[in-house]
Amino acid sequence: MNTSDLNRRQFLAAASVGSLAAATSPAFANAGGKAGKLALLGGQPVRTKPFQGWPIWNKNTDEERILAVLRSGVWSRSKIVEEFEKKYAELMGVKRCIGTTNGTGALLTALHCLDVGIGDEVLVTPYTFVASIQVIFLVGALPIMIDPDPDTFQINPDKMEEKISRHTKAILPVHILGLPANMDKINAIAQKHNLVVVEDACQAWMAEWKGKKCGTLGDLGCFSFQNSKNLPCGEGGAIVGNDDKLMDQCKAYHDFGRGHGSVGQVEGTGFRILGNKCRMAEYQAAILLAQMERLEEQTQIRNENAQYLSSRLKNIPGIVPHKLYDGVTRAAYHLYPFRYEKEHFGNVPRSKFLAALKAEGIPCSSGYDRVNKDAFFENALRSKNFRKVYSKQRLDRCRELNQCPDGDRLCDEAVWFFHNLLLGPKSDMDDIANAIRKIYDNRSKLV
Ligand SMILES: Cc1ncc(COP(=O)(O)O)c(C=O)c1O
Repeated sequence: MNTSDLNRRQFLAAASVGSLAAATSPAFANAGGKAGKLALLGGQPVRTKPFQGWPIWNKNTDEERILAVLRSGVWSRSKIVEEFEKKYAELMGVKRCIGTTNGTGALLTALHCLDVGIGDEVLVTPYTFVASIQVIFLVGALPIMIDPDPDTFQINPDKMEEKISRHTKAILPVHILGLPANMDKINAIAQKHNLVVVEDACQAWMAEWKGKKCGTLGDLGCFSFQNSKNLPCGEGGAIVGNDDKLMDQCKAYHDFGRGHGSVGQVEGTGFRILGNKCRMAEYQAAILLAQMERLEEQTQIRNENAQYLSSRLKNIPGIVPHKLYDGVTRAAYHLYPFRYEKEHFGNVPRSKFLAALKAEGIPCSSGYDRVNKDAFFENALRSKNFRKVYSKQRLDRCRELNQCPDGDRLCDEAVWFFHNLLLGPKSDMDDIANAIRKIYDNRSKLV
């Protein structure tokens, strides 16, 4: 099924048929209970149908846009990028948007333009994609790891203040997995300690905190449109913000330092400030404009399915669905996470649980590993530049604070479903829940 062909009404119809089918279909008969032999051990899988694929490309509605760009010969930043920026800013409910080559470029630009650099410390979660941490090193600052909250998977604001020092300059909250971080607490801490906030919303398109979009709640917000993302164009990114002067700085920086708006023009070549280059291309914007047409409807379907899936999973011992903070009015669900507590599954290791679930026809993943313990972290601290500009004491503090037991626990216990699994009818969620229940019922056979 293609969600581009599945309007909301059809989804709801399919959803209700799905729950009825779940009670009567052969798949269900085979799904739960001790009678169903695990597929990993040679039984029939709960599901043989593929889930919705990703990304979605609708030949009829999407191709003309991109072909027009290709035929025009104008492939570098021009009117289509401007159209995307205008529409994305409107969608986010924010004054300005700048399209970038990718999310990493957006984060680097935002940190640089907020004057985060050598000598500074930035608070960030270890439970994230590596780019959230690497961009901090790349601007010359030190990442200070804040343990995530194991219930929500998000950076834990209650563990922030103990790690703040006179060097702390910024908080980089990541709305990881597309679930919003606690922005009320984070912004209150930022205000109290005079810190800037760069939201890594690279997985959080359309997610909301108290009705406002993630990415618009701090000083600047950054997005990624990489291939796997809910709003994809292969590679792409954006910075959003309400402060014209700051956005002019970002626009200049992302374009070799060319004067833009309040940054002003100069005589000669026009390069006013030190800059980088991470401009979005026209064909990236054309793909995004097509994808954006479906984003609202898809986000709604993901949220409804996620809620239903949690209601089914919460009754299975050892399966702990993620929680959302009270302030969350909507999540993006780039990923759907839960924790697997093996003690309830007769100590069947997570790797075996995942293998059993995949064998039942449910694609799943163990998620992030300890990114903060990857070699790049220590290599950055030992690099010539960092040893030149930081004392041994400062570098050792960064190492010592890099202990995050709750983050380690999430790395050991998490199970993820990719967002495309949430795009089908409700009966797809029944298949997922039935497969997990079947594994639970047969757990003694897996040890
Ligand atoms: C949380 C997070 N931050 C940053 C990035 C970097 O974005 P990009 O891959 O577009 O450079 C990603 C992308 O995967 C991400 O998931």
